[in-house]
Amino acid sequence: MKYLIANWKMNPETRPEVERWMATYAASGGMQNGQCRVVVCPPFVWLPVVADRHPAGISIGAQDVFWETKGAWTGEISAGMLKGIGCAYVIVGHSERRALGESDAAINAKLKAAIEAGLTPILAVGEKSRKFTRQGTVDHDVDEILEMQLKGALRDIPKTKLKEFVIAYEPVWAIGTGMVANSDDALRAALFIRKTVAEIAGQPRLRKTLPVLYGGSVTAKNISPFLEEDGLDGVLVGAASLDVGEFLEMQRQAAERPTTGN
Ligand code: PGA
Repeated sequence: MKYLIANWKMNPETRPEVERWMATYAASGGMQNGQCRVVVCPPFVWLPVVADRHPAGISIGAQDVFWETKGAWTGEISAGMLKGIGCAYVIVGHSERRALGESDAAINAKLKAAIEAGLTPILAVGEKSRKFTRQGTVDHDVDEILEMQLKGALRDIPKTKLKEFVIAYEPVWAIGTGMVANSDDALRAALFIRKTVAEIAGQPRLRKTLPVLYGGSVTAKNISPFLEEDGLDGVLVGAASLDVGEFLEMQRQAAERPTTGN
């Protein structure tokens, strides 16, 4: 079953816009027969609105979490709070947060807090740029970066918990740029991510079962090749998920391809 994850980032600006999105989604009939796993990740302030109104079949995710459970941490939100409000997922390690200075150690602490609270982490990894040569794309650096990010993020996380992760391969150069990755490259990265996490976990089975998604400039027009790859388990969508009509169209396409065994 494919994942379709909406990362609304710092949008929309007003509550009526959130309500309109939810109402239009619900009026469309929303999810049918659970053919695809839909997760909506609004900004923190809209989580209660989405939690109150979301149609059955949609799961809710946050875009970040803090590593401590409670106390004097001005401006932070704990994993327990997210769980309590109805979140099932949380994005951790998004490149837009890494760009604000989030370190691998912070990402690691956040992942541990998420797991402890029973949230499913959606760990985002990806290279900043690719090297291009006359022969084509050189992926060697990409592998090194992915391996470093995965090892840093997953350090000391109980190996048995790694099967509960979702990993999003999000090349930074593709995010918000309209420069969508080639689905072959995304598949190659996904296979490398599976191999690496399976090695870290010491569980060869994860090479098959770990859900790995692609994210970066996905739209209803270009989503199809990513859904066709059996080795990719869906997509993480930013800007295009704000348009509920476009999101429903992506969901329709994802639901047609319930391939993987996850
Ligand atoms: P985009 O964002 O679809 O707007 O490129 C994807 C993401 O950042 O998750």
